[in-house]
This record gives sequence, structure tokens and C-alpha cells, in this order.
Amino acid sequence: MVTIDQPAQMRAWASQEKRAGRRIGLVPTMGYLHEGHLSLVRLARQNADVCVASLFVNPLQFGANEDLDRYPSDAEGDRAKLESESVDVLYAPTAEAMYAPGYQTRVSVNEVTKRLCGAGRPGHFNGVTTVVSKLFHAVCPDVAVFGEKDYQQLATIRRMVRDLDWGIEIVGGPIVREADGLAMSSRNAYLSEDEREAALALSRSLGEARRAYRSGERGGEALLEKVRSVLTAEPLLEVEYAELVDPETFDPVSEVGEGALLALAVHVGKTRLIDNALLAAA
Ligand code: PAF
Repeated sequence: MVTIDQPAQMRAWASQEKRAGRRIGLVPTMGYLHEGHLSLVRLARQNADVCVASLFVNPLQFGANEDLDRYPSDAEGDRAKLESESVDVLYAPTAEAMYAPGYQTRVSVNEVTKRLCGAGRPGHFNGVTTVVSKLFHAVCPDVAVFGEKDYQQLATIRRMVRDLDWGIEIVGGPIVREADGLAMSSRNAYLSEDEREAALALSRSLGEARRAYRSGERGGEALLEKVRSVLTAEPLLEVEYAELVDPETFDPVSEVGEGALLALAVHVGKTRLIDNALLAAA
């Protein structure tokens, strides 16, 4: 595995691969990799000839009171994991290479970022779309893979790529869960034992709603009530949102219809966790 830390070198590598007719796959990450990230790497490898994983903790997507300063990292562990998945390039740009002094450009996607995480984390999605644009320009991927746990991020990036005619295939990777149901996240490392136990209510609440959906329930309020009753029974949890939305536009829906996304953001102590379930006819 080659490590590259400058955008110009990354672009030079990418144009060599393109000339050789190879399809490039990209998995953008902020590091502290877990099995969820590695499942995305495997998906990229299935969809491309060569695979790049990027590792950059992007300051632009963190709010002033968020966890940028304590975001977990394990550079050596990440490198070993990516090596073992036969990643070709680790692209780990420095903060200076990404945002040189005087940097002032943003890429933004409007409607799809307004609600849910966009409402709770102002500026977050502008930071994401800006950094992902820069990663796309450096790596020139044919296909890029993003996790479905951050479903609004995935929908936003799909919208950006479509709107800007970039012709990059965006693949969503299914949520990977621990054996007890907790969705894998680098932020799970922040949880105390009690908080981790309480956090299981997220997947349990989605499971309740899914069961009701499978039994024929299509009403948004009834499904959300299933979710809320599980979450509010856990004293360590504070619900930021629990909503039923259209999975492409993120507009709220009152009935499931063709399909809908049940999305949650919950605070467990100082840790903000998200999870979701797509409710769609099989
Ligand atoms: O999902 C993430 O880890 C980040 O938002 C991403 C896509 C790597 C951009 O910094």
C-alpha cells in the first residue's frame, strides 16, 4: 500500500491509473476504522480495479462545540487494517494541503441538507460536501462508497454528483452492527459501559418500528410512536430527532408509501449517535 499526502501527487497517481484503463474506487473516511469501514473497502474493491481509502479528519464539518479535538485516532491500526484489505493507496492529506492559509471556498447542497442532521449541526453538510469535492478532484474515482448509517450524507453526495454532472458512481454500503445491534461508529469509543447499554435502545426502537411495518402498519405517527416509546424509556438518552422522511429528498412523509427512511439522532451523555432503517416493500 502506497501512502500519499499531497493532492497533486494523488492526482498524478490517478491519471496514471486512468491511462492504464483501470477503474478507481474511493472510500472516504476520518479514520479510527472499524468493520463498517472495511465493509465499504470490500464494496469498493468489488466495483473497481484499484482502491483508494482516504483518511482525513475534516475540521470544516465539525461545529464549535463538537468533538473535533477528541475525535479518536489510531493511525497505525488503520494502516494495518487497510493493508490487510489490500487497499492500493492510503490518501492521508495534511490539513495544510487541504486548506491552505486563505482557503475560503465551500460547496453546498441546499434542500436535502436542511432537515435532520443539517438542522442539528449547522454547517456540517457544507463541510462534508466541500471535503468530498476536494477528495473527488484529487482521487478522480469512478466509484465512491459511503455508509448508509449516514444516510443523509449519502443522499447529499448523490445529489451533488448528479447536479454537478461528475459521473461518479455512488454506492451505499449497508449499516454494519455489533452482535447486540449497536450500529458501528468510531464515536462508540466515547461510550461508558452504562451509556453503551442505553445506546442499544436505538436499534431496538428501529426493530420495533420495522416489526410494525412488516405487520402492515404504514402510518408515520404510529411507527414513530413505536420508536419514541423505546427511546424515552431510557433515562440516559436525549432524542434530538426521530423522523420518517423520503430517502431521496429528506422531506417528511406521513405514510410509508413506496418506501421511507426512519432516521434517529440521539445523545447519550456527550456522545451523539445516529441510526436509521429503510422501510420499503421487499
Ligand atoms: O462519513 C465520514 O466519515 C465523513 O463525513 C467523510 C465522508 C469521510 C467526509 O469527511
